[in-house]
Amino acid sequence: MLMNNFLKNRKSIRNFKDKYLDIKILRSIREKCNEFEKEGSDKFEFLLFEDGERIFESLNGIGGYSGVMIRSPHYIGLNTKDNGEKTIIYGAYYIEKLITELTNLNVGCCWISIKDVDENIKEELFHMKSGNIDYLLSIGYPIAKNPFIESPTSSRIAVKDIVFKNEIGKPISIEELESRGLDDLFYYIRFAPSFYNIQPWRFVLKGDRVVLFLSYLSDEELNLADAGIIMYYFEGLAKTIGIDSKWKLVENHDYEDREYKYKCIGELKL
Ligand SMILES: Cc1cc2nc3c(=O)[nH]c(=O)nc-3n(C[C@H](O)[C@H](O)[C@H](O)COP(=O)(O)O)c2cc1C
Repeated sequence: MLMNNFLKNRKSIRNFKDKYLDIKILRSIREKCNEFEKEGSDKFEFLLFEDGERIFESLNGIGGYSGVMIRSPHYIGLNTKDNGEKTIIYGAYYIEKLITELTNLNVGCCWISIKDVDENIKEELFHMKSGNIDYLLSIGYPIAKNPFIESPTSSRIAVKDIVFKNEIGKPISIEELESRGLDDLFYYIRFAPSFYNIQPWRFVLKGDRVVLFLSYLSDEELNLADAGIIMYYFEGLAKTIGIDSKWKLVENHDYEDREYKYKCIGELKL
């Protein structure tokens, strides 16, 4: 499927059939986890937990948004071996790449945040030798949708509120985006998932580069996973319009206005 359609149609799945995934599908998922770990970094790994019931029972009431844990037959954990920003960003990037593969296998999924769960509980539950798991993916067969009921969609903010020229807050015209062939990219990129659907990504076009920032109010709210996710989709969408570039992480030039702080994440050559 083309990435723009994929993004527009993708949705988090929170209701799963009470049924294990087929053994062959689990094998394909394990293979993809191994492949993306090798491609990514030795600083993170994907752990497939087949005994979903055990995980659900332990995290029910403490995992997920406000303790609302999602029940699924299996889970995948993102185990980060250090707290480095790069590790979290690229761990999330590759989780999202994995989600593309899961969707191709007709497997539904949803990110689950378990940042607030006590580390001792996590260690006992996941038996990792080292590292920390702040995110899980619930995975399984989605419950079939009722064709007579329109399923709710999560809202998205306007292109003009996420894309700027030269500086955050300085508008860029839709005509300029069109003339540079970037209008569709910025239209579709908004359908990427984000923590609490906050959509913190801000893009600043500077000459032949685009710079990515994440907006946040206080240090606790800065969610670097959202950066990795958007970087993955941006590269994929850019490729469809002939831009074969990768993000380069950059460290400084953070920014602040009256309302938000903006962490500079990286830049990509257009
Ligand atoms: C890093 C991250 C953590 C998330 N954590 C949770 C979670 O704990 N519980 C949940 O129900 N959804 C979680 N989500 C899913 C988002 O709420 C969802 O992607 C967003 O609301 C947009 O909806 P959509 O994916 O259906 O388009 C998370 C998403 C991301 C990217």
